[in-house]
Amino acid sequence: MTGRSAFVVVANRLPVDEEVTSDGRRWRASPGGLVTALSPVARAHRGAWVGWGGAADSAPEPFDHEGIRLHPVRLSTADIDGFYEGQSNSTIWPLYHDAVEPPSYDRTWSDAYRIVNARFAEAAATVAARGATVWVHDYQLQLVPAMLRAKRPDLRIGFFLHIPFPPIELFMQMPLRAEILRGLLGADLVGFQQKLAAQNFVRLARHLLDLRYSGMTIDVDGRAVKAGAFPISIDPKEMERLAATDEIRVRARQIRTELGNPRTLILGVDRLDYTKGIELRLDAFRELLEDGTLTVPETTLVQVATPSRERVEHYETLRTRVEREVGRINGDFSRVGIPAVHYLHQSYSRAELAALYCAADVMMVTPLRDGMNLVAKEYVAARIDHGGALVLSEFAGAANELRHAFLCNPHDLDAVKGALMQAISVGPSDGRRRMQIMQRYLRTHDVDRWGRSFLEILQASEGGA
Ligand code: ADP
Ligand code: G6P
Repeated sequence: MTGRSAFVVVANRLPVDEEVTSDGRRWRASPGGLVTALSPVARAHRGAWVGWGGAADSAPEPFDHEGIRLHPVRLSTADIDGFYEGQSNSTIWPLYHDAVEPPSYDRTWSDAYRIVNARFAEAAATVAARGATVWVHDYQLQLVPAMLRAKRPDLRIGFFLHIPFPPIELFMQMPLRAEILRGLLGADLVGFQQKLAAQNFVRLARHLLDLRYSGMTIDVDGRAVKAGAFPISIDPKEMERLAATDEIRVRARQIRTELGNPRTLILGVDRLDYTKGIELRLDAFRELLEDGTLTVPETTLVQVATPSRERVEHYETLRTRVEREVGRINGDFSRVGIPAVHYLHQSYSRAELAALYCAADVMMVTPLRDGMNLVAKEYVAARIDHGGALVLSEFAGAANELRHAFLCNPHDLDAVKGALMQAISVGPSDGRRRMQIMQRYLRTHDVDRWGRSFLEILQASEGGA
């Protein structure tokens, strides 16, 4: 089995995304928190990564990227329709996020999900060395652990879900429910962002498959499957390092100047996703402008909204609604040359994001539901000046850890407005104290610790045959 890897990551996306341009192929960083968090862990293990390169019908030969061996998996246009846009992002994503938009169900999508999961399992089985550790990730690949175990009983298999795991009543809506649960139970260790999610999972195993559990260990036909909470994190040193450079300091000042030197710069950075609460953030801002609590040009909102899943209906309609609302606020409150809201539907480099974080007085992270939310953690890490203030939804996993943020219930618009105003008017010493406490927490709860704590428990599990 030479050339095979002892440590294999399997995720729907590779860390890089293929862009096909008129001058050929270009690779750029893939969107989303999974790739941000997992890349340093995969690099540290000199691992292999099995995933999709982001373009239809393209699967280049395996290649090395920043110390990771990448193994592209091909998805056809039909796979992208049924597996990615359909079952993954129109059924599972909304269902697991509290059904904040109604999930859609379609039998052809279930078939596509099975077929593509089998392809990933086959690719992982080919890449993994005898007795290797294979770590499967996220909601797109929940059938892979059992499929892989059937092919390669010698492997130690872990699974981590980056998004919330729903309560039993919601999960039971899913036509593929028993298959998905059996798929996950193919792993030796199933990890979640939150304790509540891990508890939902073990209770579901009894409810749906009548399996017995003790503590957080489920008995699956005599095999012990563990479940647990492993809150994911960032590499805070990366943001600290960037924020300490002259280049970023200068760029942060330049951003404020370009925005007309507002007294208060409010920032939002999200994928353009309906779970992120971008609309309610705009609503809160508009109401505060309407009643005169906030004014332009003293206050400016910059909303960075990374393009995401643009062919999925809920995302298309969200974009229309957000852009209409931005236009409405700007129509009512902008001055010539000074918009109330700067809306940027683009991806940025890590350096530009760091500069934006350093420039912002208040960061608004207001998801209706979010597994973790790494943007909140990145903002805190970037504020090496101990300035800035974080408004954070109680419904983001990060709220369990960043207790010194200005927490709010995103379903209560007055609470969001209240938290925003508290953050804007926090005194310098209170603001500094909050930032320092959150930074200390992040330094000891970084992504390296997340990876190690999961993999240590996985190594201690019964493992392969
Ligand atoms: P999700 O995984 O749902 O997208 P997270 O907040 O956990 O949400 O992670 C988002 C990741 O994507 C963060 O690492 C953030 O820095 C990055 N990101 C968000 N917006 C942009 C953007 N416009 N350009 C580049 N990276 C972005
Ligand atoms: C979230 C999910 C990831 C996903 C990312 C980007 O972070 O947990 O699994 O890769 O969003 O979404 P996309 O659909 O573009 O892969």
